[in-house]
Amino acid sequence: MTITLHTWSTSDKPALMSMCNAVDRTFLSDRLPYPYTEVDADWWLGMVVENDGKEGIWRSIWADSELVGSISVERNSDEQRNVGSIGYMILTPFWAQGIGTEAVRQICGIAFQELALDRIIGQVFPENVASVRVLEKNGFRLEETVVEKVIKSGMARDVKLYRKDNFF
Ligand SMILES: CC(C)(COP(=O)(O)OP(=O)(O)OC[C@H]1O[C@@H](n2cnc3c(N)ncnc32)[C@H](O)[C@@H]1OP(=O)(O)O)[C@@H](O)C(=O)NCCC(=O)NCCS
Repeated sequence: MTITLHTWSTSDKPALMSMCNAVDRTFLSDRLPYPYTEVDADWWLGMVVENDGKEGIWRSIWADSELVGSISVERNSDEQRNVGSIGYMILTPFWAQGIGTEAVRQICGIAFQELALDRIIGQVFPENVASVRVLEKNGFRLEETVVEKVIKSGMARDVKLYRKDNFF
């Protein structure tokens, strides 16, 4: 199986909608709309085309000829503009095949180079062991666990903050 990252295009809209409506949301931010409508997809694809390479790197994840996920590194705002935040999701039938680990490896290289970042951070719920492993296997190290940092489904949840520095 070959894992590749592709820039998003408007022709991906049906696959984007279908993925965002099907993805396991247990550990995802409540910011991802549900149900994920055509209006949501149009707004997001427009935002990505306008900002890619400047305010972030957004890519679809492909396993051979199939779109199986989404991954991004978004530049933080203001005085943290030298830092990017990573996020990713993969459709459940494609879990545990090394796709997440490989996608994170690829996007970190692109983001460090194209956005000239000093650091990429990852914010993970402690229970999300697969995501923790994906980051650890890509050289992210645990910075701290922040208590009650994020509201999810109405509850304040702890998060682990991971970081990867640009040594080049
Ligand atoms: C997190 C996610 C991207 C991992 O992707 P993936 O392609 O399954 O990851 P990999 O196949 O590269 O596996 C990485 C590690 O996680 C482990 N893993 C994968 N799925 C797992 C699961 N459901 N439970 C426990 N461990 C799991 C793998 O065994 C591997 O660990 P190892 O190297 O110690 O054997 C995927 O589970 C996902 O999209 N989850 C929903 C969205 C999400 O949580 N996004 C991240 C928010 S921070």
